[in-house]
Amino acid sequence: MSGLLPLQTLLDDIEGLSVIVVDAHGVVTFVNQTYSRVLGMAKEEVEGRYIGDITPHSRTLIVLKTKKAIIGYDWSLNGYHMIGSAVPLVRDNQVLGCFAYSLFMDKWDAKDLVENLMVELNMYKQEVSQLYSARYTFSDIVGNGRAMRELKALAAKAATHPHLTVLLTGESGTSKELFAQAIHRASVRAQLPFIRVNCAAIPENLLEAELFGYEEGAFTGARKGGQPGKFELANGGTIFLDEIGELSLSMQSKLLVFLQEKVFERLGSHRPVRVNVRVVAATNRNLEQMVSQGRFREDLYYRLNVLALELPPLRERREDLPFLVHHLLPGINTDLGTGVAGVADSAMELLMAHTWPGNVRELVNVLERATVLAEMDGSPFIGRRQLAFLKVKEEPVSQAPDSLKALLRDYEKQVLEKSLQENDFNKTRAARALGIDLSSLYKKMRQHGIPTGPR
Ligand SMILES: Nc1ncnc2c1ncn2[C@@H]1O[C@H](COP(=O)(O)OP(=O)(O)OP(=O)(O)O)[C@@H](O)[C@H]1O
Ligand SMILES: [Mg+2]
Repeated sequence: MSGLLPLQTLLDDIEGLSVIVVDAHGVVTFVNQTYSRVLGMAKEEVEGRYIGDITPHSRTLIVLKTKKAIIGYDWSLNGYHMIGSAVPLVRDNQVLGCFAYSLFMDKWDAKDLVENLMVELNMYKQEVSQLYSARYTFSDIVGNGRAMRELKALAAKAATHPHLTVLLTGESGTSKELFAQAIHRASVRAQLPFIRVNCAAIPENLLEAELFGYEEGAFTGARKGGQPGKFELANGGTIFLDEIGELSLSMQSKLLVFLQEKVFERLGSHRPVRVNVRVVAATNRNLEQMVSQGRFREDLYYRLNVLALELPPLRERREDLPFLVHHLLPGINTDLGTGVAGVADSAMELLMAHTWPGNVRELVNVLERATVLAEMDGSPFIGRRQLAFLKVKEEPVSQAPDSLKALLRDYEKQVLEKSLQENDFNKTRAARALGIDLSSLYKKMRQHGIPTGPR
């Protein structure tokens, strides 16, 4: 035997739940202990009798007649207040009987239930509005260097034109998301939704439905009643099309039509839907190059490129690094529950020398890792020791597949050459800027065929 209790015993024992089963003629075939207590009758007295003789207004009789369930009615009997449901038992289209169960209101206090549900509902509401709202403002975007100050000013100006499309380009981690949110927050649309769509994360065949929505029955698996798309949800606000360079050519055409007409149709419908949204698009791809390769529509490119903001990589605005560190550390401490006070000067030199291919996102990760290490070492500051892993990353990856290896080799060569140029071919300074020692620099230069003699 499985050791499980028989179903009837189980139903008998459930606290605060009364159960009764009748057959197709309304004769009681089962009553649980709880309900027989409510009735004030022994089980044997109830089972085998016509339900109409016990509780003349029983809903089970209606269910037998209509073959439809009645859910969630409230009723009272012998001083007990209950919420009940009665469902028909059907096999092969034949009603074999009815199963009815009731919960005691005093046990399952309806008021508490509603209150708990309200608390939950509010939580979800908040979550949804957070999901659909922008957190960052321009004051959260650290950037004191000239390039960033100008970009911020330009973006703030663009924000005041609520219909202007903005294109944000820049490597991974260069604050594209922050700019998109800040533009929304600084515009008259601030109180309305900010909706982000990651064009790279949604499979091509679902993206159209995601963006434009669909009608009931538009495709197999389409939800009853259909579903609005992100453009409709964003109505009045801003839609942030992230990773726009990943859109397929066919989606590019559809987006272009929308940008021109501001009208679209849900999938499976011919009814035009008009919305008022600002489009902010972002990509870390070189769209111009993609256009020349035929991978991005030229007309869409021009349409998006009305106002393009090119966000500079961190290595080109190293002067912002100390400010970024200062800005980011408190949040990291809060998230990790640590209490690291800052970065030692010598460690800051290492950070300044790093090339930051992952930009500010990488900086956040590096600081998080170093913060944990400092905490473990009992050090109040992040020192060079906690940043040792930064150097390790620059070693060539030996197990990488050939193409990746070649890419990395090329990239390393470029970085070396650039650093040498920036430092007037002073190898000591270049090595310092790269965060490697002089002998490693020589070794790498020889590996890449870069002349090591005096220039
Ligand atoms: N200028 C900045 N000031 C403060 N924090 C920043 C700044 N730029 C980026 N960050 C931090 O780095 C993280 C990554 O930035 P963001 O999401 O804007 O990058 P992105 O350009 O969208 O990159 P990706 O192309 O990888 O999505 C942010 O969540 C934020 O914590
Ligand atoms: Mg992003």
